[in-house]
Amino acid sequence: MSILIFGGSGFIGRRLVPLLVARGEEIVSFDINPATANYERFGRQVRVLRGDVSQFDAVMAAMVAAKPARVVNLAYYLGSEHPPHTAFRLNILGMDNCFEAARLLGVSRVVFASSLAVSGEQKHYGERPATEDDFRHGHVQYAMHKIFNEWQAQDYREKYGMEITALRPANVTGPDKIVGSLDHVRCITLPARGESVSFPYKDAMRCPIHVDDIAEVFARVVMTDKPKHAVYNSGGTAVSLGEIAEIVKGCLPDAKITFEHEAGGRENSGNYLIDNRRLVEEFGVQYRPYSERVLEIINEVRREVGLPLAGAR
Ligand SMILES: NC(=O)c1ccc[n+]([C@@H]2O[C@H](COP(=O)([O-])OP(=O)(O)OC[C@H]3O[C@@H](n4cnc5c(N)ncnc54)[C@H](O)[C@@H]3O)[C@@H](O)[C@H]2O)c1
Repeated sequence: MSILIFGGSGFIGRRLVPLLVARGEEIVSFDINPATANYERFGRQVRVLRGDVSQFDAVMAAMVAAKPARVVNLAYYLGSEHPPHTAFRLNILGMDNCFEAARLLGVSRVVFASSLAVSGEQKHYGERPATEDDFRHGHVQYAMHKIFNEWQAQDYREKYGMEITALRPANVTGPDKIVGSLDHVRCITLPARGESVSFPYKDAMRCPIHVDDIAEVFARVVMTDKPKHAVYNSGGTAVSLGEIAEIVKGCLPDAKITFEHEAGGRENSGNYLIDNRRLVEEFGVQYRPYSERVLEIINEVRREVGLPLAGAR
């Protein structure tokens, strides 16, 4: 028995696989671009399959080969700029392929990545945190696809009794992030390289969570047979780009981070106040302080480019 992870070579998958290996699990990672991760160090404990999750036959073949006890789907297009047909195939059909193949093979434990994007803008909730039961105001391609995935998961749960869980990561951060929400990441990584960076609004809000933290959340949820809920918000740290810039300058006093507008940006920000009590109470998750994570990211970048390491002031 193993855990089959679709999209296992991506930003989050690269952290999740080692965490599950450390728990003694055998992993099969299925990815269209497996070269973005190297699992050789784990020997036979991690098998890598190259394939396209939007092809039902490929997903079925992987299920048959892996005979998994649990399935995770992380394969997705981040962002909303993709051609409708292309995005639909990966995000909607690919997700359904995972659910349906799991059903056919009798694998009832499935976890997939939804997103804070389902909630849409913070203004819909006023000054209060959005919960998992709130109306989902998301309206762009990415959000609509995640909303549909959550609905589809509920349909499978109700009709077949499957244990499918949606995890909604907030704005995941880490030095190697290249897709998805990037302004909060570039506010750290570009100054860390000694480059200047500029953003439109100082008061634009984000809710970062470090990629190691979200990977740990996935690991705990995946390893639980019957979680109490079908949907979990990860939550994170509500912070403005201006505040991130101050944290970065606290570590790198010469950092050049500028804003075109000193005020504004908050009113159009995506959901940043997020209620994650379900996750915290059931899984006991605790995130390292965000400012520590910022310093960690700065120094990972600086180590990579051969610059002297920064310290917190
Ligand atoms: N990174 C974030 O900030 C964030 C926030 C909220 C939700 N999420 C969700 O978490 C999940 C993982 O995100 P990530 O940041 O690791 O993304 P990522 O793009 O780094 O990883 C996705 C992986 O899926 C693979 N993939 C793409 N198309 C495929 C296909 N047709 N068949 C098989 N594999 C395919 C990619 O090669 C990649 O390795 C996604 O569902 C994403 O929407 C991410």
